[in-house]
Amino acid sequence: MQSKALFDQLRQKAPLVSVGVLSADLMSLGSDLELLERAGVELLHFDIMDGCFCPMMTVGPGFVKAVKTTLLKDVHLMIDEPLDKLESYVAAGADMITVHVESCRHTHRVLQSLGEMTNTNDSARGILRGIALNPGTPIETVMPLLDEVQMVFLLAVNPGWGGQKFIASAQRRLKQLEEMIAASGRDILTGVDGGITQDNIADVARMGADIIVTGSAVFRGNTALENAKSMMRTAENAAKSINTNAT
Ligand code: DX5
Ligand code: ZN
Repeated sequence: MQSKALFDQLRQKAPLVSVGVLSADLMSLGSDLELLERAGVELLHFDIMDGCFCPMMTVGPGFVKAVKTTLLKDVHLMIDEPLDKLESYVAAGADMITVHVESCRHTHRVLQSLGEMTNTNDSARGILRGIALNPGTPIETVMPLLDEVQMVFLLAVNPGWGGQKFIASAQRRLKQLEEMIAASGRDILTGVDGGITQDNIADVARMGADIIVTGSAVFRGNTALENAKSMMRTAENAAKSINTNAT
């Protein structure tokens, strides 16, 4: 139930790259996961789509559970009314669970309910609660929810598929979100998800994102090891450059 330790761990290491597992070739998933572990990736992102909230259907809790990994499981629920499904993802070993503000009639209740659940991997670790916003949803929508989350994710694509183009408004929206979080006096991790590649990850890190989700870019071209390493290094250097300029 205590998610502070996990939060602190991520806060300290930010910016972190969370790799979208569904972009991997499932025939070589085991070896690709080993490559990600060797690259130093810490978060594995599961895009759960139900064919209702967004057009595609992907996987469910059975898949999340079946993936054996030392990486933290970052579960992104793009499903209608997730309240009754939360327990199954917690039982599957989720360390971080994000729901969409657009998918719940009672978002606050969903987040409260998640806050009462215990991490099945390690009860001391807690579960980080996240809220995600589609590109067309006003940032202010999350303001009443800030007491109940440790992460806010902005989608830089409309949810549905990997490999889409980054929507530039994410930059302005992230700035607005960070101002809102700062004004609230809370410490909340911000994330950007969708359309992030080798070419724009530095910009996204400079925008101040703490968690950067990337799927297809890690599994195309070079090996997942080389891609993940180079994207992490680029993000770290870009974040360092803004911190250095700020001091
Ligand atoms: C959007 C998903 C993303 C996406 C990431 O529908 O939430 O996580 O699949 O994949 P890329 O990096 O390929 O956009
Ligand atoms: Zn996602």
